[in-house]
Amino acid sequence: MKNQKLLFQILKNIRKVTGKKRAFLHEPVFWSDEKKKLLSCINSTFVSSVGKFVEIFEKKIKSYTKSNYVLATNSGTSALHICLLVSGIKKNDEDLIPTLNFPATSNVTIYCGAIPHFIDVEEKTLGINFEKLDKYLKNTAVKKGKYFYNKKTKRRIKALVPTHIFGHSGNLKDLIKIAKKFKLTIIEDASEALGSFYKKKHLGTFGSVGALSFNGNKIITTGSGGAILLKKRADYIKAKKLINVSKINHKWKLIYKGLGYNYKMSNIQASLGCAQFNNIEKIISYKYKLLEKYKKSFRGFSQAKIFELKKSRRSNYWLQTLILNNNLMKIRDKILKKANSQKIMLRPAWKLMSTLSHLNKYPKMDLTTSIKLQKSIINLPSSIYGQ
Ligand SMILES: Cc1ncc(COP(=O)(O)O)c(C=O)c1O
Repeated sequence: MKNQKLLFQILKNIRKVTGKKRAFLHEPVFWSDEKKKLLSCINSTFVSSVGKFVEIFEKKIKSYTKSNYVLATNSGTSALHICLLVSGIKKNDEDLIPTLNFPATSNVTIYCGAIPHFIDVEEKTLGINFEKLDKYLKNTAVKKGKYFYNKKTKRRIKALVPTHIFGHSGNLKDLIKIAKKFKLTIIEDASEALGSFYKKKHLGTFGSVGALSFNGNKIITTGSGGAILLKKRADYIKAKKLINVSKINHKWKLIYKGLGYNYKMSNIQASLGCAQFNNIEKIISYKYKLLEKYKKSFRGFSQAKIFELKKSRRSNYWLQTLILNNNLMKIRDKILKKANSQKIMLRPAWKLMSTLSHLNKYPKMDLTTSIKLQKSIINLPSSIYGQ
């Protein structure tokens, strides 16, 4: 097929699924309970840092993810920042971060004075390629005392920060193996992965800390918001203080001890979250229906395929993804331009973090697969309306 014909076919396949003239990438869905809970929060006048909804929301997340402790925050980025701080990430530590990623993971590393060290991903899961990372660390890292150091930079390689991209999980058995072998702290960026499990264990609970996001484009939303999932009580106490400007509990005295951050989720955000959370399983079941529709629509189309994870893993399929073959990769931007001009919102993957102007000076391994994926990924309209 000629390129023009292929482009037309792709748009036709997408329209067949969305059945809409205008299709957004990801719209939030509100049923009636959101309005009721928001109104109840407004009527209570407790819309800010005090009120019952934050605690209820945290309990819901705790019970669903089976995390030991949960703290709701005002964004996924602030949750991630606190995850790094309670993990003891400090100046000149190196954190291993997939380059195919959203900037928050690298940015919070820099907030801590630490160094992002970019690693490659695999095509099967879009997550970290652990086999490749193992070989790389064998050559790049040297053990001195208890820990591993970068031979070239002499800095400690401290943390491994997997991002569960579009809600999918990599092979987390290997994540734990490699973290143990090289004495790495696991900090999970599960911002996109609420509702995703690996062997029945929720993503974000494999290390001692993990972060979720409830931004407006995520699987459920609080407008803007996030959560920290924690394993240890000591980390929970530390994080709870840090997100509340390091304020010490007292009935009426205002005591602040040490540097802190204003990162708490507000009661009004949490009221929305409480209503949204009740629909998480319904939303994910619609995501699976959408996946089947896309698969059917692109069946027999040899130039691109719909991304699908191994059946044994429970992804939330937050964003549906089309993977272009070599031929179509060359016209990816033409496809994006045409679709967007016709109000079908398609998006490329992020530019690789290792190529951004504020990050391109940091260490990196060979990134061949990420480079290829960056050119071949197109995210499709993934809203559940009409399902
Ligand atoms: C992978 C990833 N990490 C971190 C974030 C940051 O979350 P937020 O936008 O809630 O700060 C996002 C989402 O936007 C994300 O997709």
